[in-house]
Amino acid sequence: MASTLLPWLWDGGYTAWPMALGVILVAATALYALMAPKSGVPSISGTIPRLSVTLMYMTDMRQFLSKAKKALHERHVVQFYLGPMKAYIIDGASNIQTMFRASNNVSSDIFFLMVQQHIWNATKEDLAKFANDKSGRQKVTFLEPDPSKKNPGAPQKRYWAGMHETVHRYLARADETNTLARSFQRFFNQDLSRFPLGKATPVRVYDFLLNDMAQAAITAINGQRILELNPNLLKLLWDFDLIASSLVWGLPKFLNPASWRKRDELLAATRRYLESALPELDKVKSVDADWDPVFGSRYAREFIRWMRDDGFAMQTMAGAVTNLTVFGSNANSIPVTTWCLMEVAKDESLLKAIREEVDTAWETDPVTGEKSINAQTLVGLPLLQAVYIEGLRLHVSMNVTRQVTGSMEVGGVKLEKGAVLQAATEIVHYDEEIWSAQGHSASEFWPERHIQYVDEVGGDGKKKRARKFVMAGGPADFFPYGGGASICPGRFFAKQEIMLTVALVVSRFDIEFVGWVNKEDGSPSDRPAENDVRWSGGASVPPDRDMQVLFKRLW
Ligand code: HEM
Ligand SMILES: *[C@@H]1O[C@H](CO)[C@@H](O)[C@H](O)[C@H]1NC(C)=O
Ligand SMILES: *[C@@H]1O[C@H](CO)[C@@H](O)[C@H](O)[C@H]1NC(C)=O
Ligand SMILES: *[C@@H]1O[C@H](CO)[C@@H](O)[C@H](O)[C@H]1NC(C)=O
Ligand SMILES: *[C@@H]1O[C@H](CO)[C@@H](O)[C@H](O)[C@H]1NC(C)=O
Repeated sequence: MASTLLPWLWDGGYTAWPMALGVILVAATALYALMAPKSGVPSISGTIPRLSVTLMYMTDMRQFLSKAKKALHERHVVQFYLGPMKAYIIDGASNIQTMFRASNNVSSDIFFLMVQQHIWNATKEDLAKFANDKSGRQKVTFLEPDPSKKNPGAPQKRYWAGMHETVHRYLARADETNTLARSFQRFFNQDLSRFPLGKATPVRVYDFLLNDMAQAAITAINGQRILELNPNLLKLLWDFDLIASSLVWGLPKFLNPASWRKRDELLAATRRYLESALPELDKVKSVDADWDPVFGSRYAREFIRWMRDDGFAMQTMAGAVTNLTVFGSNANSIPVTTWCLMEVAKDESLLKAIREEVDTAWETDPVTGEKSINAQTLVGLPLLQAVYIEGLRLHVSMNVTRQVTGSMEVGGVKLEKGAVLQAATEIVHYDEEIWSAQGHSASEFWPERHIQYVDEVGGDGKKKRARKFVMAGGPADFFPYGGGASICPGRFFAKQEIMLTVALVVSRFDIEFVGWVNKEDGSPSDRPAENDVRWSGGASVPPDRDMQVLFKRLW
């Protein structure tokens, strides 16, 4: 929730300021902002005072975006003021590439520190470890000696790099991704067998995935014990999801005690689990075990091991594990899967085509006779990929945010050091010039925009028209997973997980679309689902309505 951005702006750091104080300071600093010298760069303010631009940014995303889009049309770099702080919004493939490439001159650390303070509830000592580590995330060959140490010549500990290494090593590598996907498939497939065979069962798609997909994903990633010790974990997780982004900027406790309470309950649940599991950490031969019931995946296990071995407090560990393994692995992929599945379920011809495609990815183990989906084949299916890309394009609303820390030029404009630099998927992913095709506007879900048809000779020797996936738009026009050094390391697993879920459901069920319903009580809705704007700017955006369907299990 952007209205809580202010407190943070005033110390330019990660210490929370009470909101009320923040508002008074806006007024005081507006004068300063108005007097700041003008440059030749297009500005959002135009005739509006800068203060209202700040307020518009925080409270009226729609209006701000429409102003930003107009200004971006001129130059692809637009400046505005967030209170006293210079900020830029950029678009255009080459500018976005520049931002992602300039890993030495821009940083995402300052924003991550806010997450560590307000979401993880990291201890002061642990926060300082990250805040004082200026060595970045990437591999470096030379490290500044730390003069505060007894032996100043010894290289200082690199916390950012340690975290980065750990999550990328155990999430982004193909062998780990495939292992995770196998576990996920096993648990989700098992879960689907709970539906009665051959009997139409009413299901609400979003509600179903919030429970069943999350249960399977948490079991695959974190193991069973966290769920056994916290039977209400999913409720805590989804209650937290709605308020998480409002806490990042340090929403003062007295203004919204309920939100902080939700965070604390979720953190306490993870901590309860860690206190039970940690003594067993060295019993699991991590390198060998693809999955174990106590720690789940190698990813979760090695993340916990890294934190323990680097001496983080239990409180900090609970927060980090919650954010980066429990929450981060569900909060984004489940809404995107929901949209993909809803689009497929409501369109009979798309459903049929996806089903036929997915049929080609099933295989039978010659030894056990067990059927499973080959995930490598699955992620290459053209139409399913196109559905996945449209799901991400239309339903991830991410403000990629960096701070300018070095010399940086974008689109011919020299950026001010210390300024905030943003690229918004809401602008680029909905850009008509990039995405509209054959009369289908950018805002329309239309997988065919990523499909080309080629003539192929089939197994029977006959010529046939085959689909080929060719992504519309360039790589820098599409950044649901962020980019640069802090790009989402879970993106390969997310793709498999999302496609596997859709594939298993369409393979094992007859699906009948019944209608749109309200999320709260399942009563009929007078319109289809749209993006639930309460999540805008944070990453994945769930639907504001649910879809009622009938599932009839085929096998
Ligand atoms: C559709 C699904 C997903 C989306 C849209 C998404 C999006 C993102 C974005 C935008 C970032 C920040 C990137 C940046 O700052 O440049 C991020 C970071 C991260 N994501 Fe994902 N994510 C998804 C799924 C997942 C999954 C399934 C996992 C884990 C299993 C995961 C783990 C992480 C982690 C650990 C980070 C922090 C990386 C770091 O700071 O080094 N994500 N994600
Ligand atoms: C994301 O950016 C838009 C402007 O592009 C802004 O209006 C909105 O408040 C931001 N959201 C968050 C959560 O920072
Ligand atoms: C959050 O941090 C404070 C201060 O370190 C601590 O007293 C409190 O118990 C923590 N809460 C949770 C749920 O970790
Ligand atoms: C950590 O939490 C913050 C705040 O909700 C969220 O923006 C971010 O995506 C989370 N990161 C992961 C990887 O879960
Ligand atoms: C980053 O800064 C260095 C020097 O400080 C400069 O040579 C380089 O061009 C900058 N990179 C970008 C992408 O602006």
